[in-house]
Amino acid sequence: MFPEWKGVFRRRTAQRVENDRPCRAEEIPIHVAVIMDGNGRWARRHALPRAAGHHAGMLAMRDAIRAADDWGIQVLTLYSFSTENWKRPRQEIDYLWRLVDEFFQLDIDELVERNVRIKIIGDPSQLPQVTQNTIARALHRTKDNTGLTVQFALNYGSRWEIVKAVQEIAYQIEKREIAVTDIDEKMLSDYLSTSGLPDPDLLIRTAGDQRISNFLLWQIAYAEFVFVNEMWPDFTRKHFYSAIQAYVARERRFGGLK
Ligand code: FPP
Repeated sequence: MFPEWKGVFRRRTAQRVENDRPCRAEEIPIHVAVIMDGNGRWARRHALPRAAGHHAGMLAMRDAIRAADDWGIQVLTLYSFSTENWKRPRQEIDYLWRLVDEFFQLDIDELVERNVRIKIIGDPSQLPQVTQNTIARALHRTKDNTGLTVQFALNYGSRWEIVKAVQEIAYQIEKREIAVTDIDEKMLSDYLSTSGLPDPDLLIRTAGDQRISNFLLWQIAYAEFVFVNEMWPDFTRKHFYSAIQAYVARERRFGGLK
């Protein structure tokens, strides 16, 4: 599509590493969530258009999915488009949807072969119809898979998700199907789009910023955070490996004592 970028990307393909695991199998985080930040800055550094940064980000994302699957991570949640990202120029947004189409078309066979189950969190109803169709096909093809679950957060915002959950619970009360006293943490979790999946153990954010940006606010209550300076397109399996090692070295107490 943009042949002038190809030289920049070829480097990645050669980077596939052996099937190593960063820790013992039982230490591997069950759920890893990632804020894939820095595509735009990466593009600027390479004097390329922002779209090229997103394309390179897609390649990094592909590698991260492969690594997560190889290492036995059970859930990988990828912040791909936030409810706030609509503030970007139309051209950039349109490119991101084309990239989503491209990714699901090119990678779906490999994902099926890897027994990966795809999930979407967020509101896909505002996406272009063609993208919604591509996503629906990918969801259908992977719905019975039992391996790694990859959750793409698309048009996702944590506050939006919590408000929606509260509204749904309030309707149940209005219809007298539940009482106010029935509301507990489990019920609220069940109304979130991540329902049925364990909360993230590890949250990784690239590109140096140390903030959460409206991502999984409820679910990360006890997650370990690892902030990485590399821009997302430069985030390789090696960086993922180190982030998991940093996580394994942490002592998780969940508010208790050692
Ligand atoms: C943040 O970088 C990244 C995004 C808003 C988009 C993430 C998308 C991908 C990694 C690729 C494709 C996704 C799918 C699901 C196929 P930024 O643009 O905010 O970077 P900046 O802060 O440096 O400007």
